[in-house]
Amino acid sequence: MTYKKINIGIKGSGSYTPEKILTNFDLEKMVDTSDEWITSRTGIKERRIADENTATSDLATKAALKAIEEAKVNSSEIDMIIVATVTPDMFFPSTACFVQKNINAINATAFDISAACSGFIYGLSIASQFISSGEVKTVLLIGAETMSKVVDWQDRNTCILLGDGAGAVILGEGEDGKGILSVYTLSDGSKTNLLMVPGGGSREPISIEVIKKRSHYMKMEGNEVFKFAIRGMEKSIDEALKKANLTYEDVTLFIPHQANIRIIDSLTKRMGLPKDRVFTNLDKYGNTSAASIPIALDEAIKSGRVKSGDIILMSSFGSGFTMGAAVIRW
Ligand code: ACO
Repeated sequence: MTYKKINIGIKGSGSYTPEKILTNFDLEKMVDTSDEWITSRTGIKERRIADENTATSDLATKAALKAIEEAKVNSSEIDMIIVATVTPDMFFPSTACFVQKNINAINATAFDISAACSGFIYGLSIASQFISSGEVKTVLLIGAETMSKVVDWQDRNTCILLGDGAGAVILGEGEDGKGILSVYTLSDGSKTNLLMVPGGGSREPISIEVIKKRSHYMKMEGNEVFKFAIRGMEKSIDEALKKANLTYEDVTLFIPHQANIRIIDSLTKRMGLPKDRVFTNLDKYGNTSAASIPIALDEAIKSGRVKSGDIILMSSFGSGFTMGAAVIRW
């Protein structure tokens, strides 16, 4: 969809990551790995880990409050709260309803979306359509995860990759000629088997057997995901730029999903984008799934990397498979 009726802008952003840092050296003591292997294969040096009393909605609330303050909106003015997450507090109620309670957004419709690492881009698409149609004015969109709670800390193939955190934006009517120019999303359900948490849902409800098999933890065919991630993100970028009538050369700053530096390098090489037009922070946080892009966006804004008139490109890929890209004129 291309949004024309109402310009949709980001009015404020915020992010939050837990204080506890788990370094590659800490991981060396937990599984058979090394800082050298993790750094060279992924670019990740450390990640943040939520403590046992902290749930996804707690991280989401902290990020949301910062975005609300920056946007100078009152919580009661928020019409819709969308939380993109695959690590909800519970099956139900939604994580968004917990956030609603925490921030006292009494006039909002609140719900979660499950699109793994692409959740924030999917959320942008949903929020944009609600605002563009005039149905709602102000949307709080959050990507929040506690991936540390679904990672198997005995599996070196996956546990080195993930981290916890949250990023939030307030979306509303923006300035003329600025705001979201296009959003593209796509899914490929034929690859559900390559990245999943098989146990604990209705397919394999939680049981002693499920726990013994460690089925309630994340499983991934890393090599396969890697290949599809590059192709999926490239396609999403091409489609989103085409919709916005722009090309690679027009991109001022590319904010990719922060999964693996090799995926990002391969993509940007194909696009011919110089490194100074690519934002990365995966060395500090690892892959925070749906929180990855909004945390990076918030850090890019706060560090002065985003200026008025800039063309910002964001792109993601995740379990499902899900993929997407969005283009914003700042
Ligand atoms: N430390 C040391 N050695 C390791 C580790 C580790 N942590 N993990 C795997 N290895 C070993 C493997 O066992 C293998 O050994 P072998 O050759 O003796 O069998 C060797 O290293 C190479 O393993 P590969 O899997 O081929 O390594 P690869 O270069 O593909 O890197 C990685 C693995 C980092 C997982 C990569 O495939 C990747 O980033 N994939 C994409 C991940 C991703 O983006 N996921 C999506 C997001 S998650 C979500 O949606 C919620």
